Amino acid sequence: ALPFDLAGRRVVISAGGTREPLDPVRYLGNRSSGRQGYALARVAAHRGADVTLVSAHTADLAVPAGVRVERVGTAEELRSAMLAAADGADAVVMAAAVADFRPESLVQHKIKKSDRDPEPLKLTRNPDILAELVEARRAGRLRVPVIVGFAAETGDPDTTVLDYGRAKLARKGCDLLVVNAVGDGQAFEVEDNAGWLLAADGAERPIPHGAKSLLASTLWDAVSPRLEPK
Ligand code: C5P
Repeated sequence: ALPFDLAGRRVVISAGGTREPLDPVRYLGNRSSGRQGYALARVAAHRGADVTLVSAHTADLAVPAGVRVERVGTAEELRSAMLAAADGADAVVMAAAVADFRPESLVQHKIKKSDRDPEPLKLTRNPDILAELVEARRAGRLRVPVIVGFAAETGDPDTTVLDYGRAKLARKGCDLLVVNAVGDGQAFEVEDNAGWLLAADGAERPIPHGAKSLLASTLWDAVSPRLEPK
């Protein structure tokens, strides 16, 4: 049986991939299916948590029972939803694949095919929502005891990926970071996941290859003792 250790806790999870519009019919997107974020939501709800799932674009996934879902499209929408929902929560998990860049301007009419060479696409930086949550907490504008990030890295899982993960944890300043090895049929658009769970306090544990629900359980096992005592 699952532990019921998240009863009375409120958690906020982002999932899926943002889509950044280019014109009324086109966008820049990514391959995130949302499965890991939805698995996190499902397991947290089973363990008794009050769950808000901020969902960007995903595969055709069922919203887990008892989970409140808020749908967003762009990184900016995801940012607003997360900042609003995170304050006063017990934990936030940024499992969404947020586009790092968006088209600089939204063209109002569908871009037409023409005989001329296409205009180069001008991009502008999106906010780093995870870093912003950490900074808002540091500045005392946001109250949330546990902030969790994800990182998808390519390379050897036990050397390169782990090193990238340690560096990213330090740079982002979150409390926990799940590092996924991606590529070679790993992590994206598949059912399974594997990697490392790294904590700001130095704790590190491998996440064995397995279902995304297993990774979810491993993560909540690590979050649970880091929650503020009730
Ligand atoms: O730097 P990188 O994109 O690899 O970091 C991944 C982590 O940061 C994920 O938790 C992701 O949800 C979050 N992120 C974010 N805003 C961005 C880019 C990534 O919150 N613009």
